[in-house]
Amino acid sequence: MQPLSAPLVQVRQLSYTYPDGTRALDNINFEMSAGETVVLLGANGSGKTTFVLHLNGLLLGQGQVLVAGVSVNKQTLSEVRRRVGIVFQNSDEQLFMTSVLDDVAFGPQNLGMAPQEAFDLARKMLNRVGLPDAEHKVPYHLSAGEKKRVAIAGILAMSPDLLILDEPTVYLDPPGQRTLIGLLRELPQPKIVVTHDVVLAQAIGTRAVFFEKGTIRGMGTVTEVMNQFGWDPSQAIRGTA
Ligand SMILES: Nc1ncnc2c1ncn2[C@@H]1O[C@H](COP(=O)(O)OP(=O)(O)OP(=O)(O)O)[C@@H](O)[C@H]1O
Ligand SMILES: [Mg+2]
Repeated sequence: MQPLSAPLVQVRQLSYTYPDGTRALDNINFEMSAGETVVLLGANGSGKTTFVLHLNGLLLGQGQVLVAGVSVNKQTLSEVRRRVGIVFQNSDEQLFMTSVLDDVAFGPQNLGMAPQEAFDLARKMLNRVGLPDAEHKVPYHLSAGEKKRVAIAGILAMSPDLLILDEPTVYLDPPGQRTLIGLLRELPQPKIVVTHDVVLAQAIGTRAVFFEKGTIRGMGTVTEVMNQFGWDPSQAIRGTA
């Protein structure tokens, strides 16, 4: 057991260069505690997705990444992936079973849950994301917003200690966005949410971090960070951009 005061996530001097030579992260230092929902903001290509992929070891860069006291490395991958659930930016990378129900039940079954219990849980999660009638469908045939919902249900079914969502509201219709915001506010887990959606950011973020060219350029409340970096698209409509 780690002491209660220890941060949930500790990242020290993390850098990552993709095989083609793109330096996507450059000396990132980041900490969050278990009570937070941290929103990651920043331009396209600034490194947000690359950063979160390091938090469950899908990418292993130079530097140190600790989640709940566990150092993320090749030896700890299965433990880290039990603790950290990521809803990917691209749902097609997440869904791979031949039915929606199997897909959502896959994670819990993989952790040892009995099939019937896992299917019951999967149905409950599909209900929660507003897809109660999709269980027999082929994930590949779903609409983009439906795929996103299935991916979210699949991660929720795992009850991760840290929930990471990369652009969760993309493709969701406005009622779906509202449902998701309500759901995220209800969920007790600490969260890291990567988003360009300022409504979502303001609704759930207890803190925001701003990425620029692979570095963290600023952090503060969501409003402070959005003001500092001119990150509110409605400014253009009001003529204050
Ligand atoms: N597989 C890859 N190979 C090479 N370069 C990559 C790869 N994936 C991402 N990059 C590059 O790394 C940088 C950071 O990309 P990343 O996807 O982390 O940005 P992002 O902040 O999530 O952007 P967005 O807001 O568009 O999702 C970009 O320059 C991108 O082109
Ligand atoms: Mg991204």
